[in-house]
Amino acid sequence: MASYSPTAGRASNTEDMNIVLGVAGGIAAYKAAHLLRLFTEAGHTVRVIPTESALHFVGEATWAALSGQPVATDVWANVHEVPHVDIGRRAQLLVIAPATANTLARAAHGLADDLLTNTLLTARCPVLIAPAMHTEMWEHPATQANVATLRARGVVVLDPAVGRLTGVDTGKGRLPEPEEIAWTALRLAERGADQADLTGHHVVVTAGGGREALDPVRFLGNHSSGRQGYALARTAVARGARVTLIAANTVLPDPAGVELVRVSSTQELHAATVRAAYEADAIVMAAAPADFRPVKQADHKIKKEVDGSAPVIELAQNPDILAQLVRSRIDGQVIVGFAAETGDDEGSILEHARAKLVRKGCDLLVVNDVSGGGVFGERHNAATILSRTGVVRQVPYGTKEALADVIWDLTVDTWSANDNN
Ligand code: CTP
Repeated sequence: MASYSPTAGRASNTEDMNIVLGVAGGIAAYKAAHLLRLFTEAGHTVRVIPTESALHFVGEATWAALSGQPVATDVWANVHEVPHVDIGRRAQLLVIAPATANTLARAAHGLADDLLTNTLLTARCPVLIAPAMHTEMWEHPATQANVATLRARGVVVLDPAVGRLTGVDTGKGRLPEPEEIAWTALRLAERGADQADLTGHHVVVTAGGGREALDPVRFLGNHSSGRQGYALARTAVARGARVTLIAANTVLPDPAGVELVRVSSTQELHAATVRAAYEADAIVMAAAPADFRPVKQADHKIKKEVDGSAPVIELAQNPDILAQLVRSRIDGQVIVGFAAETGDDEGSILEHARAKLVRKGCDLLVVNDVSGGGVFGERHNAATILSRTGVVRQVPYGTKEALADVIWDLTVDTWSANDNN
């Protein structure tokens, strides 16, 4: 008998895939119509399988019209075609969004009482589930146990976002934005067999730039957009990791499935990172903390002097977060730093970078050449990655997500090397 493998149906061509979109009965079902649109507009064939309760929120006609495919909720339509076997076998990606507590429970326990759960059992492709429900239902030990079971089987289950729920409530339980769910799901399908190699790991990623307030309206800051950190966070989610993203002053869309902690100053970034580091398997310091902060922050707007004199701002040095993380590192934890370097009279980019790696004591240092400007705010990047053992990896110019995946590959290698020592 063939053993169960959630990756056997790997999509070899991710340009035109057969996608199954399961929709369960929650208020966020209306967002699945947009998700469906994103998949079909990207050229994929999507078969929507709503649950009976989902049709209370969005009717069959909407799913059929938007997908151009027949829609059924149970296995009793077109029985001669044995639909659940046919749809499941042909699926190259199966997404359930939103998934209710009930659908999670049925999936975790292998129940097969409608077309969606039957299809889930016949499919051998990557599976991504995006739950959405009230906070209490998400946090209930029964739901958490079901999520753990599914994750252990190689299913990528996204943590819900925090925000407005049905009615006036807010909390954890909101469906992430469809664009981000679509990106994560397609990435999962693209990676295929290696899809969830960060499953069971908690990674902390920092992103963006620290802002040091001078007064209520002014700050000292830097050009970091946070794009590289966000790329690290979303690629880690697509590889099954639990991700804490600590974001300083970013304006990018929230990646699906992350725990997002917003900070502004470098001291806030420091506190949030040290707190999250206690239970992290890897920390990637992609943020650009400010090295200095004003000693005093005026509690009113600093006014111009009539005599034309300018204020003198005294600066204090901020903590070196990376160096402190290395000092308080827990066993087996991998710590990754970034360095934006230019060469000068004292040394080349690589010489400066090697010295920084030794000074900071991190496992990997991702070095960007910023002599020609660029990098900040761009979607693409090239880098050299140094390791403590002297291994160098050149990553050619490509997307920040491609660089992120190389960083995660090297993180996985470092965990294995630590295990073997
Ligand atoms: N970093 C940090 N805390 C700081 C400054 C930097 O954790 N206060 C981290 C950055 O997130 C990055 C790495 O250290 O991962 C290197 O940052 P960089 O600015 O290149 O290092 P500095 O120590 O500030 O060195 P330099 O004197 O070259 O600016």
